[in-house]
Amino acid sequence: ETGFITLDPGYSNTGACESKITFIDGEKGILRYRGYDIEDLAAKSTFVETALLLMYGELPSGERVARFREQLTDQQLLHENMRNHFEGFPPHGHPMAMLSAMINACGCYHPELLDPEMDDERLFHAAAILMSKVCTIAAFAYKMTSGQRVEYPDPSLSYCRNFLHMMFSRPHRRYEPTPQVVKALSRFLILHADHEQNCSTSTVRMVGSSGANVFASVSAGVCALWGPLHGGANMAVIEMLERIHQGGESPRTIVEKVKQKKFRLMGFGHRVYKNFDPRARILERTARDLLATKAEPDPLLDIAHELAEIALTDDYFLERRLYPNVDFYSGIILRAIGIPLNMFTVMFSIGRIPGWIAHWYELYHDPQKRICRPRQIYTGPAQRAYVAVDERA
Ligand code: SDX
Repeated sequence: ETGFITLDPGYSNTGACESKITFIDGEKGILRYRGYDIEDLAAKSTFVETALLLMYGELPSGERVARFREQLTDQQLLHENMRNHFEGFPPHGHPMAMLSAMINACGCYHPELLDPEMDDERLFHAAAILMSKVCTIAAFAYKMTSGQRVEYPDPSLSYCRNFLHMMFSRPHRRYEPTPQVVKALSRFLILHADHEQNCSTSTVRMVGSSGANVFASVSAGVCALWGPLHGGANMAVIEMLERIHQGGESPRTIVEKVKQKKFRLMGFGHRVYKNFDPRARILERTARDLLATKAEPDPLLDIAHELAEIALTDDYFLERRLYPNVDFYSGIILRAIGIPLNMFTVMFSIGRIPGWIAHWYELYHDPQKRICRPRQIYTGPAQRAYVAVDERA
């Protein structure tokens, strides 16, 4: 009657629960992976090292990083039969649908990882499979839906360089990224690697809590991330900035439409950060640094800056504590790298894979193996008698 419900200990009614992986202080704009500040990791770590930190809780030794890199290289190739899956998708198929489907398909080729028993070494193997094959899946999806010949992985390249090679090399010309492009991609992936119990990570935990394997759980996370209010926002930001750039509307007009509730400023606002998203600050600097190395400036960055300047001095936004979030500048980096718009949320997924795996594994270790089962507050009709169809109004 009061609307209050009893919660299972340790679980909130959103299926969230305690975790040792990532700490966020929304008021102070703090984000830490296993206690390490995101600013430090973005400046000093690599995505591979950050992935091991998230999954195992400690900064790995050089030897362990080298061993993981070897496994990532060993796992770059897909089973040749998986190419048939790609041929089954229509050319206009969305890469996020392909990514989710192909991650589950990957699981079918690794039955040894589908049974419920998991330990540190088996997770190491599963993580190498997932982190490496999602890059090949993403690049193959891009090449095949754009009518290009796929580029196979190159085992001599690092994680980021290999992905860029598979995406942008052509039969007649090998793609050689600048150091700034490689650094920007690595930083992008580090900044997206985990973010506590957000919508998609909570989905992974929810699915994993039923005892589902890590491939099925991560595939579900991809689907949750796809939404425009979540990972899909990075695409929506660029579409919004493009609309302004093509003369449709000025930044001031957009802000006025937002205040009239006719429009959401994509890339702004966050359920937790109420002063600033530390990732947005790092991504804004990364976007500026990367664009400074380009022959052509990107007018969308100037528009993004103008929008932010207007919004950050306007009471409507200040009262609602709306600030740029991780998605506001990330799309500009992806554009500068040459990633097509419909692949932006796929890039977010590639970054988030280690965080999803870390949360799945953390829940796997729950000694009570409790299934996430959020309770509800029932607001439907009270009990009522059945009415035969010929007696209904
Ligand atoms: C991510 O959870 C995570 O950690 C997610 C993420 C991660 O790393 O996993 O950080 C990644 O998803 C970042 C968010 C990307 N999404 C967007 O940029 C979409 C635009 N942002 C919003 O839709 C919104 O800010 C959310 C969804 C991010 C947060 O929404 P909340 O906390 O539920 O806020 P709300 O919808 O309750 O809004 C509160 C008020 C409302 O105004 P009033 O009704 O009180 O007058 O703020 C307004 C909203 O209308 N508001 C916005 C706004 N976001 C909130 N108004 C205009 N533009 C916006 N973007």
